[in-house]
Amino acid sequence: MVCWAFIRGVVYIDAIESQYASNSMKIVLLRSLLVCLFLGFWSPLAHAQQKKELDHDIIYDESRIPSYVLPELLLTAEGKEVTSKEAWLTVRRPQILSLFSTLVYGKTPSPASPIETTYEVVKTNPQFMSGKATRKDIRIRFENDQGSAEMVILVFIPNQAEEPAPAFMIHSFDETTSSRFDEHPAEEGRLKNNWPLGELLDRGYAFVAVHQTDLVGHNEVSFEEGIHPLFFKAGQSFPNADEWGVLSAVAWGGMRALDYLEEEPLVDHNRVALMGHSKMGKAALWTAAQDERFALVISAQSGCAGAALWRRRSGETLEKMVTRFPYWLSRNAWKFVDQEDDLPVDQHMLLALIAPRPLYVASGSEDGWADPRGEYLSAYHASEVYRLLGKTGLSSEELPNLNEALLESDVGYHIKDGGHSVEMYDWLRFMDFADYHFKR
Ligand code: GCU
Repeated sequence: MVCWAFIRGVVYIDAIESQYASNSMKIVLLRSLLVCLFLGFWSPLAHAQQKKELDHDIIYDESRIPSYVLPELLLTAEGKEVTSKEAWLTVRRPQILSLFSTLVYGKTPSPASPIETTYEVVKTNPQFMSGKATRKDIRIRFENDQGSAEMVILVFIPNQAEEPAPAFMIHSFDETTSSRFDEHPAEEGRLKNNWPLGELLDRGYAFVAVHQTDLVGHNEVSFEEGIHPLFFKAGQSFPNADEWGVLSAVAWGGMRALDYLEEEPLVDHNRVALMGHSKMGKAALWTAAQDERFALVISAQSGCAGAALWRRRSGETLEKMVTRFPYWLSRNAWKFVDQEDDLPVDQHMLLALIAPRPLYVASGSEDGWADPRGEYLSAYHASEVYRLLGKTGLSSEELPNLNEALLESDVGYHIKDGGHSVEMYDWLRFMDFADYHFKR
């Protein structure tokens, strides 16, 4: 259709040209206008076509999942079986952590790296949500002779707490400096972004929000600003292939927020549940895998590079992820596009790094892009390590029924009837799971 209109346009201009041959400037302009119109029409179509081609092979159907063999959790790189807690903690766990650091997400600098960190309370509201909470807006500033970067975290502390409160920390898509964290004008107990802060406070939890793009862009490609330049070595201007990408930088921000909580006497930093949805669910898992101070982890619909198994190639795959978000992972991860079976890890091993701490994985039945079954199986396979460490895990390869949460275990799970979002049903299960582990 567009081609046809273009050809008709060319013929029409040629006809005008033969009639008014003297006015050639106008003809040039008309021709240019036609080309612009053509490109304007054509590029969205071309883009849609490209997207279709890129996504023509997505697997959503269980019968098309390729057969695969997962790497062994309890076999060291040297081929020795891991049969004790000690061997897991001292040999196998560090091996797996190092593989995820160098091959998947990219190494994050250690906190001991030479930067100066300062905290400033930018705002305090002791009467937030009708006096239920004290809200503190904290600016965390990082500085060294290569530059500076800042993040703002929000801390809501329940006013009725008699002892330091356990906390939910959220890797958030919402900017903490926006009004999305103000009280909902019409719905009591809700924030404007709909999060049920009132329910969290009633259950005695403090709530901490950390925004994802304070230190790194959502789909960063240049790494010229934010936190990365502070850690470049002499002459370096881009992360090396084994160094931190976007998700690792988000994770690093979460760890620094926990450093702050260690200085906050009204929050019990030994009972912090870290939660994230989707991209932030991937970040939550990777944060807690690296930083054992996080006591409990919840990933909601984290999918590819989160809880879902790479080798199933179901829904979003490594290829699709690096095509759209080239630096969410490290550049080393690119080598495994279409070569997932060569990865020496799969995501059940990431979940196992969280053991023995309680882990909750949540899926949505309509969220095929995040591969719900792959998320479940990952938690199921990671349970092997939980059991080795004397904890409980998932014992069946079959998913539970929709909306039937498995809560009373160190590895919890639910698949809700619904798509890619966190609803009240999810929030309540997350709180139930945290109650079960923090309040018994
Ligand atoms: C994209 C991306 C997913 C991610 C999601 C999100 O769909 O492909 O990997 O989880 O965005 O963060 O909502």
